[in-house]
Amino acid sequence: MTSFIGAGNVGTSLGVFFKENGIAIRGYFSRTFKSAETAALLTSSKAYTRLEEMVNESRFIWITTNDDAIESVANQVAELNIHEKKTFIHASGLKTSDVLISLKKQGHETCSAHPLLAFSTVEQAVKMLSKTTFFLEGEQGDLLGIKQVFEDKSLTFAEIKKEQKAAYHAGACMISNYLVTLVHASNQLFELARISSHVLNPAANTLMASVLQNLEGKGPKEALTGPIKRGDVQTVRKHLEILAEELPGLTEVYKVLGKETMRMIDDFRLKNIFDE
Ligand SMILES: NC(=O)c1ccc[n+]([C@@H]2O[C@H](COP(=O)([O-])OP(=O)(O)OC[C@H]3O[C@@H](n4cnc5c(N)ncnc54)[C@H](OP(=O)(O)O)[C@@H]3O)[C@@H](O)[C@H]2O)c1
Repeated sequence: MTSFIGAGNVGTSLGVFFKENGIAIRGYFSRTFKSAETAALLTSSKAYTRLEEMVNESRFIWITTNDDAIESVANQVAELNIHEKKTFIHASGLKTSDVLISLKKQGHETCSAHPLLAFSTVEQAVKMLSKTTFFLEGEQGDLLGIKQVFEDKSLTFAEIKKEQKAAYHAGACMISNYLVTLVHASNQLFELARISSHVLNPAANTLMASVLQNLEGKGPKEALTGPIKRGDVQTVRKHLEILAEELPGLTEVYKVLGKETMRMIDDFRLKNIFDE
């Protein structure tokens, strides 16, 4: 039996996905009963008001609260009267299993399992979870149980060490968060060009899809297209002129990414323009 402390986006999505994959969900406990009830309804499980009861009725307990609450929740659970050994798993990409130390000291298995996915809505996340890789971290003995569950259900996982997590999570944020920021920055330029959103949205979606497709088969160096790769000095100069005139706040972003692009392909023909 699997249960969740923290009925937010990730806890609810994982519960729905696990249930669809034949993993029995016992229930949810959350800061507010309303969230627990909503998640329980979606997973045909129980919304608990007593944390101790839920933990005692479960084998695997996911702590899917926000990162800052994980340690205090673990400390709270460690104070409870728990009858058997359990496995506690949190889903943070940055924090390690060390934040569950109070539970480890009580003889429980502890680990972190980070699904490398941007959870925006439950419906969207559940669709994507079968293609998602879970990055597991913890002592080998503590990972055996959760690895067995993942193997039985043919879920994709990889192992990661504690000391790798900061770099790993920074990488994850660069892709998933800053890609969104880049779209926002580009939209300001499209708006400046007076491209209406009903024309822009499908056009930009196809452009992004083509980039993802290029990246899929090749590495980033080979996937790159555009003026830096071609060495088109006048094109980049014109971009920087319009940015300086109309959207000066974006100039630095454009330059920083341009310089990183030159480093990536080891081609510095446009160096002078970016340094101007
Ligand atoms: N979002 C992502 O894309 C993503 C991806 C991978 C991993 N993660 C990780 O997944 C975890 C959850 O993230 P999330 O995006 O699902 O966050 P979220 O939507 O903010 O949900 C967190 C939930 O935790 C509950 N909570 C907070 N403090 C609590 C406490 N003391 N006791 C019980 N419940 C408590 C809140 O409950 P109430 O609703 O009842 O107030 C809230 O629903 C985090 O560790 C995050 O790093 C997130």
